[in-house]
Amino acid sequence: MQQERGQWSGRLGFILAAAGSAIGLGNLWKFPYVTHQNEGGAFVLIYIAAVVLVGFPIMAAEVIVGRRARRSPVGAFLKLGTDRPGGRLWAGLGFLGVTAGFIILSYYSVVAGWTLHYVLMSIQGELAVLARDATALQDHFLNEFLASGPKQIGYHLVFMAATVSAVFFGVKKGIERVAKVLMPLLFAIILFLVIYSTTTSGFGDAMRFLFRPNFGDLEASSILEAVGQAFFSLSLGMGAMLTYGSYMQRKSSIPRSVTEICILDSMMGILACVIMFSIIFTFDLEITQSATILFTTLPTVLVQLPLGSIVLGLFFVLVAFAALTSTVSLMEVVSSYAIDELGWNRRFATVAMGVVIGAFGILSALSLGASETLSRLNLFGKDSTVGLFSSFDYLAANWLLPVGGLLVAIFVGWIMAARDIEDELAEGHGRLGWIGPLIRQSLRYVAPLAVGAILFSIIFLGAEYQ
Ligand code: PFF
Repeated sequence: MQQERGQWSGRLGFILAAAGSAIGLGNLWKFPYVTHQNEGGAFVLIYIAAVVLVGFPIMAAEVIVGRRARRSPVGAFLKLGTDRPGGRLWAGLGFLGVTAGFIILSYYSVVAGWTLHYVLMSIQGELAVLARDATALQDHFLNEFLASGPKQIGYHLVFMAATVSAVFFGVKKGIERVAKVLMPLLFAIILFLVIYSTTTSGFGDAMRFLFRPNFGDLEASSILEAVGQAFFSLSLGMGAMLTYGSYMQRKSSIPRSVTEICILDSMMGILACVIMFSIIFTFDLEITQSATILFTTLPTVLVQLPLGSIVLGLFFVLVAFAALTSTVSLMEVVSSYAIDELGWNRRFATVAMGVVIGAFGILSALSLGASETLSRLNLFGKDSTVGLFSSFDYLAANWLLPVGGLLVAIFVGWIMAARDIEDELAEGHGRLGWIGPLIRQSLRYVAPLAVGAILFSIIFLGAEYQ
């Protein structure tokens, strides 16, 4: 029995929810880190090229499939693929997405939980006190907080509960409502922090680092890294945008919405860099540890600036909000599968799947405390050493998302009829002009070649990225 499906209230609802999915830890945490590792300006340009050439068409492809089929990723590929070459096998692509959503959510919510702890500590005034003593904060984070199984599990489960509550109330009354409240707040906080960072002495250096490209310093692997980062940051390759697209109204334009989401997401990454590098250059910080810097070093310097303790609290509220709108989208991919394909009702589906993912995430939460290499914690870095946790991220970001994205591009570019794609793109947009063929050709050639080259280089040339 098909239940009545939800729908966004309008284009703004879709954009805010989808931008909420895209903007997350990937922008505020991972992007500044990889940009720093790859020497700044030149990497930013390559990243933008990756978003335009690969991210934009693949996001459009996901939304096309979602809105056309109006089903979860599994049902959508089944519906549109069954009488095309490949047939019912395409459902496997949907399953790949649901699996990736499950895995990413289970560890993402552990890190998101850390931000809750920091928000709580700043409300209680503890964070500012701890942050005044660099070793005390470091000790608290690494030896007390990360090493405490109950705390890791507790915050992870609280974050999962918040995620489930948003998804529980449905597309319009839950997900969209949360996005409409949190996203404007998030934009306001980031704007405040950017203006604030212009007053720091490192601002000029940060701008030069970010916007004066020096291609001489760039390594070939940076290109791979830029594409991988674009996938993660734009929430592509696992059906999140497909699922959100399945709730999009017919009168909304896909090309316009997708362009806006890509711009918002890239802007957020770049603004996060402006803020982070201004601080980094002001205090001449060494960035060797991606994960810990946000929770150990950054607070100790922020607190020294004027209005330090307020800025510090706001910063973690920002990260927590950004993470929540992303976990909501991961949860929705898994829930929509149970709702659309297994016929469960939304509330049951969300709670049941939330419990399973929450329980699975406990493995990640505990693997932190168990690791004896905590001090070398480098979650998203090349030499990640934190067991399960980083293995999941590695698997998802390097394999599941690019493979998923590649197959989505092939499905829309080669398997779907050209007429269907153009119809879907024109619906709610009007005359397409060159944009229709541009998206289709990018999906046929540019995106598969770029992503295929990455996978090829990892498999056969032993290239490593992330
Ligand atoms: N885009 C999110 C971020 O940048 O943090 C992470 C993410 C969310 C990836 C949803 C994939 C996804 F489906």
